[in-house]
Amino acid sequence: MILGIETSCDETAAALVDKGRVYSNVIASQIGVHAKFGGIVPEVASRKHVEAIGYTIKEAVESSGKILPDVEAVAVTSAYGLVGSLMVGVAAAKSLAYALNVPLVGIHHIEGHIFANILSNPDMPVPHICLTVSGGHTMLIYVSDLCRYETLGNTLDDAAGEAFDKIAKFLGLGFPGGPVIDTLSAKGDRAAFNLPRPMHGSRNPDFSFSGLKTAVVNKFKTDDRNTLPLADIAASFQEAIVDVLVSKTVRAAEQRGVLTISVTGGVSSNKRLRESFSEVCRKKGIEVFFPSREFCTDNAAMVAAAGAARIERGDRAGLDLNAVPNAPLNSAK
Ligand code: KG4
Ligand code: ZN
Repeated sequence: MILGIETSCDETAAALVDKGRVYSNVIASQIGVHAKFGGIVPEVASRKHVEAIGYTIKEAVESSGKILPDVEAVAVTSAYGLVGSLMVGVAAAKSLAYALNVPLVGIHHIEGHIFANILSNPDMPVPHICLTVSGGHTMLIYVSDLCRYETLGNTLDDAAGEAFDKIAKFLGLGFPGGPVIDTLSAKGDRAAFNLPRPMHGSRNPDFSFSGLKTAVVNKFKTDDRNTLPLADIAASFQEAIVDVLVSKTVRAAEQRGVLTISVTGGVSSNKRLRESFSEVCRKKGIEVFFPSREFCTDNAAMVAAAGAARIERGDRAGLDLNAVPNAPLNSAK
């Protein structure tokens, strides 16, 4: 029975997971607090984590039908994210592991997202190519085996979710932008405007979305936003991002000779992204997997699932475990 804790960005989350079964998955979202700033304010996020962490863990235990002494290990996101936010979860996890006298394991946030899909689809084969797309990251990873990763590509500037959020802010659609653009796009014409597909044809597996964002801003000046159909702009912008994500991920799978693709992270709940991946992969004979919606955005069940795999491998962290904002994927202990 693993207690997972996740506080890398703006969700305070705790979950109890045992052998792939999720007993509880509690998320205290701060979205309402950050929405008025149009994005996440790191200092505010850390303070909100401090307020919420105790209650969130308590609720995760109580709603699981278990009691704290049932917890056999604690897994916490210790790497990759906002340092002040990570520190809150790491401090809580160390305290609990010490008090309960159980093993502690630190998880890289991206490894958590990879395990979100393994938790949803336990039979998903390895090796596979994993695309992790969210507000903070756009990463293409070759997963050669459980807990064995090779990072193939990364974003050179904005993450895909960040581009969704910034364009939604520009269009006056609110925060977070991804879900709003997703819904609005369903009513729009995705071929209405011809927008750039950055690094689309390039063999370089990295991504870049800031040029697309600038192209949208330049094309639709402030006064245009009131006259042009917003749904068409949203759908055309979304299509450009989806085209780039799908084509580069499928190319990576082909180059590695892999027949399985895993798509995870907040943006993986996007309906058009799922539809396009499914269409292209069907034609290519590649199987594509997505997490169930509750595990797409940041959550602690995915951290507990990654923790279970790490504990099984014998990985343990000491009470000197620290928050590392920019650690590479393989380094979590
Ligand atoms: O994984 P996540 O909760 O947090 C990070 O680790 O960043 O992802 C949040 C991001 C936000 O940028 C949000 O706009 C985006 O995921 N997102 C979506 C959708 N739902 C959430 N983007 C596109 N379409 C969606 N349906
Ligand atoms: Zn995330």
